[in-house]
Amino acid sequence: MSEVDTVANELDFKLVVSKKGKHRPKLRSKTQTSLQQLGDKTRADRTEFCQKTVLTQLQQAEADLLQSEFLRECLDNIEPILAGIEHIICLGLGNFLDCTIARYQLAFFRCIRYKANLTVKGQFFDPVFTQPEVDALQALGETVLPENLEGKYSVERKTLFFLPHCPKQIVNNLLWKNWHPNRLTNVVLLCNSFSTVVNNNPDRILRINASYILRAARLFQEVPLRNIFRFGDIFNDTSLHHLPNGHTENEHIDWDCTIEPSYEPDDLELISKKKVAKLEFA
Ligand SMILES: C[S@@+](CC[C@H](N)C(=O)[O-])C[C@H]1O[C@@H](n2cnc3c(N)ncnc32)[C@H](O)[C@@H]1O
Repeated sequence: MSEVDTVANELDFKLVVSKKGKHRPKLRSKTQTSLQQLGDKTRADRTEFCQKTVLTQLQQAEADLLQSEFLRECLDNIEPILAGIEHIICLGLGNFLDCTIARYQLAFFRCIRYKANLTVKGQFFDPVFTQPEVDALQALGETVLPENLEGKYSVERKTLFFLPHCPKQIVNNLLWKNWHPNRLTNVVLLCNSFSTVVNNNPDRILRINASYILRAARLFQEVPLRNIFRFGDIFNDTSLHHLPNGHTENEHIDWDCTIEPSYEPDDLELISKKKVAKLEFA
């Protein structure tokens, strides 16, 4: 417990046990005001401390990545595909203040953007972000999106979606929302490998909860990121997926069937709008 918390607890204890004093309400409100000020200051100090810590840790992760063979190889393979990206949306990053995996993924995103000379802000959403994480992203100059769209972002310009180890239903929703040859060519996805999804799950199941990934796997070109970074669980099973010119002319692709995906509550992998609303009002 911090010094301020200890003092606050002691004062609170005294106020609760001495109920006789005539002027108690006045004393209490005065004390409360100064306690509140102390509390505000402590919170502000903690936020500042958190931000400094995360910025330092992020810089270390970026330095680590920048000198890695892993990043060099990634850039060689994916930089040409990233040319002309006008937006970057990152979903499912997770709690990067506490979690090293998420922090390295954030560092990776920043290194790739820097090295590929993309001068766009990242737009981030994850329903589990805490306020200090939102503050940290904003302090880094990034944007935090306000709404849970469950991945249903429609794009008119070339957009990189960075979805590190994100639930496949988010990817499926995103593909559904852009399931038109003109829009889908704007979608570049850095996420779990489509071919792994297709190879590791029976078609029967995928037709129910990932039918757009099943179709997209035949259409998109997949560039795997070889998992040679010194930590094996940060970028495993990650590929860049994109549609080279002309790839939408595949005769086996059904562009007309665009039924909105829906998932059984028991099979739900993503955090739905409904669930967040329930938590907020609980
Ligand atoms: C398996 S975790 C991945 C976390 C981290 N990127 C990693 O690799 O360890 C999936 C992430 O997707 C996020 N997620 C779930 N529903 C989401 C939604 N509707 N929109 C954005 N992110 C969502 C979860 O909160 C969680 O952080």
